[in-house]
Amino acid sequence: MYLARTVTELRRWRAEQAGRSVGFVPTMGYLHAGHLALVRRARAENEAVVVSIFVNPLQFGPAEDYERYPRDLDRDLRLLDAERVDAVFAPPVEEMYPPGFATSVVVSGPVAERLEGEARPGHFRGVATVVTRLLNLVQPHRAYFGWKDAQQVLVVQRLVADLALPVEIVPVPTVREPDGLALSSRNVYLSPEERRVAAALPQALFAALERFRAGERDAGELRRLVRETLAGAPVRLEYVSVSDRETFTEVDRVERPALLLVAAWVGSTRLIDNVLLDPAAP
Ligand code: PAF
Repeated sequence: MYLARTVTELRRWRAEQAGRSVGFVPTMGYLHAGHLALVRRARAENEAVVVSIFVNPLQFGPAEDYERYPRDLDRDLRLLDAERVDAVFAPPVEEMYPPGFATSVVVSGPVAERLEGEARPGHFRGVATVVTRLLNLVQPHRAYFGWKDAQQVLVVQRLVADLALPVEIVPVPTVREPDGLALSSRNVYLSPEERRVAAALPQALFAALERFRAGERDAGELRRLVRETLAGAPVRLEYVSVSDRETFTEVDRVERPALLLVAAWVGSTRLIDNVLLDPAAP
């Protein structure tokens, strides 16, 4: 497995892949089974696979966890080597944002401005800027993103369409713990007691999904059910939303695919999760 630390090294590796299909998995490292699901999908669909590991300072707010975000490059490299990844791009900050770097990519509209966009000002600007730069550097045929961050997937799909970037964005289903908790690098912040409590989030989503599958189409009722299920748990709910899958506006009734999304604090850890509400699903 080739380790590129600089843009020059990455470009050299990329030039050697001419004629091969390239799959790309952007990550911030501290890899878990959710990331490995992206890597395996990329491995299955491409001749060469490259993974980036970069904790992107631009997408963290001033009061957020950039400094303490978990990092373990050696462990990540071992895991990726075992998945037969061809190359890893793990640049230092100065390589991604050299002196004089002054460009931002801003996606506007509900997809970038509501929910996570509102709760974390500047977050999607940071994501869109780093993802655009990474896609330009790696020039993959396909790039893989987890559905756990559904709004991020929609923001990236928007920017790829709007900037006519020649890449297919492939969303990959969320990987969950046996009790339903979505895998996230931030789960390591949870104490054993908080970790137990955190399972209430997916349980609330699944309770609403069950009601939806039984025929409930009133979005207000589904939101209410999530709030009610979480009412007894020691979590601080930040939002619960039923957003249209295409327009990302809040809906009253689910007559076409929508996302049921939650963000909540468990102690000092902020967790997000979602499920798809698809009226056409069996
Ligand atoms: O989802 C993530 O890990 C990050 O937001 C990404 C896409 C790697 C950009 O920094």
